[in-house]
Amino acid sequence: MAELIDGKALAAEIRSAAAERVRALKDKGRSVGLAVIIVGNNPASRTYVNNKKKACADVGIESFEYALDINTTQAELIGLIEKLNKDDRVDGILCQLPLPSHINADAVIDSIAPEKDVDGFHAVSVGNLVLNKKGMRPCTPSGVMRMLKSKGIEVEGKRCVVVGRSNIVGKPAALMLINAGATVTVCNSKTRNLPEITSQADILIAAVGRPKFITADMVKEGAVVIDVGINRDENGKLCGDVDFSAVRDKTSYITPVPGGVGPMTIAELIENTVLSAEQKAEKINN
Ligand code: GUN
Repeated sequence: MAELIDGKALAAEIRSAAAERVRALKDKGRSVGLAVIIVGNNPASRTYVNNKKKACADVGIESFEYALDINTTQAELIGLIEKLNKDDRVDGILCQLPLPSHINADAVIDSIAPEKDVDGFHAVSVGNLVLNKKGMRPCTPSGVMRMLKSKGIEVEGKRCVVVGRSNIVGKPAALMLINAGATVTVCNSKTRNLPEITSQADILIAAVGRPKFITADMVKEGAVVIDVGINRDENGKLCGDVDFSAVRDKTSYITPVPGGVGPMTIAELIENTVLSAEQKAEKINN
């Protein structure tokens, strides 16, 4: 019988540990701040940004929102980031993606000071991940790894299949699994004979962004299934990339949507922001 991995509960634990660390910093006279930039009015982005700001407030992190007009130029956005790079109140800078198509997201991300790159998307952060060196790690795949660990699910030696190759989730998730000693295959929605590959997975990570894309025939009996998707089904109801009700009984562990990976992304962002503030405090003290 499948066991659910409760991301909501695990995220609450992480946030409460982070709140403790924020208090410890405050006792030493240091505040913790996150700058959140949103360009345009994508409703999903607005919801994510609101959730991130609320999580900050709950743990005592000050958030500074910059809601920019859809017509903001790339130079204006980078100008703002350069100001925030120098702003002492700001320990982390998050620029919510996607950005409007007239803006080059890579150029924007790479203008963030790597020590404030709490999303872990900067080329320096990605390089550190590739080389398995210390650095900021992307929040969603970090959350996935933490969920596996919370259940004592060993990764080393396992066959892992990641469906999705995005810079935000699929690629970094694959790298983290490689660093943890797994044998990793990265697929995408167009991979030929996809069910044949996914059904070999001991651990299957679905990050393809298509509602109920992973069906029961694609999953090995007893597999661990992590669903990163946040989609709407044909009735407008929130659902993941996995056909949960059909797949659930084949798995040993599975994450629900909502209440699975989603809350973990925000908890990891909070943790990265606290870490950045602690590292800054340490630098100043030494
Ligand atoms: N868009 C979707 N996921 C993310 C995320 O984790 N960070 C940012 N900045 N944008 C996103």
